[in-house]
Amino acid sequence: MNDAVPPGARTSPATARNRQPILEVLEPRLTGGARVLEVASGAGEHAMFLAAHLPGVIWQPTDRDWEAIASISAWRAAAGPPNLATPVRLDAADQSTWPKGPFGAVVCINMVHISPWAATRGLMEGAGRVLKPGGKLFLYGPYLEAQVETAASNLAFDESLKNRDPDWGLRHVADVRAEAARRGLRFAERAPMPANNLILVFEKT
Ligand SMILES: C[S@@+](CC[C@H](N)C(=O)[O-])C[C@H]1O[C@@H](n2cnc3c(N)ncnc32)[C@H](O)[C@@H]1O
Repeated sequence: MNDAVPPGARTSPATARNRQPILEVLEPRLTGGARVLEVASGAGEHAMFLAAHLPGVIWQPTDRDWEAIASISAWRAAAGPPNLATPVRLDAADQSTWPKGPFGAVVCINMVHISPWAATRGLMEGAGRVLKPGGKLFLYGPYLEAQVETAASNLAFDESLKNRDPDWGLRHVADVRAEAARRGLRFAERAPMPANNLILVFEKT
């Protein structure tokens, strides 16, 4: 895959580090032909990489911010794989912006802690509605867990997020699970990721 940044596109160094571990969790858990809705695609580099490595799925990138949509569009125009759909605007907290389902999976990387809790509640409501039965929601990011000591780097990150916006911050897995359960999303799996991140997998019942 050509990683040269095209004009108008943004890039994030973290994506180069986490995209392969994310792919390794998604690949065996996605069924061929699935439509995948990515919420909060940001620059669009995960969408480019994951769509290219999962040619059997249709990947729908989205974001709340138009600058992100422009970046995803620039990446897609320059080197997008054929199964990467045109990006659309989706605000997780605003159900009127969600596309129609059904989707086989919803993927959300690094949004839950960098947005107010209303975005996570909206994510659960939207995923609960657009996922087909057996469809999966994948959340990637750092989380707090009752039985696991939080890494010092994650505590510092939590503080820096709250300094930027008091409504942001690392979430407790228990709170995320409770919100998911209210929307018919059963907690299925916890996959440890590098740098003290997790993928939480939920399944639509
Ligand atoms: C830290 S970036 C992560 C981007 C990308 N997923 C990644 O990991 O590189 C957070 C993204 O969440 C998006 N975002 C924040 N609140 C949102 C909301 N309510 N609905 C959808 N996207 C949102 C931002 O626009 C931004 O692109």
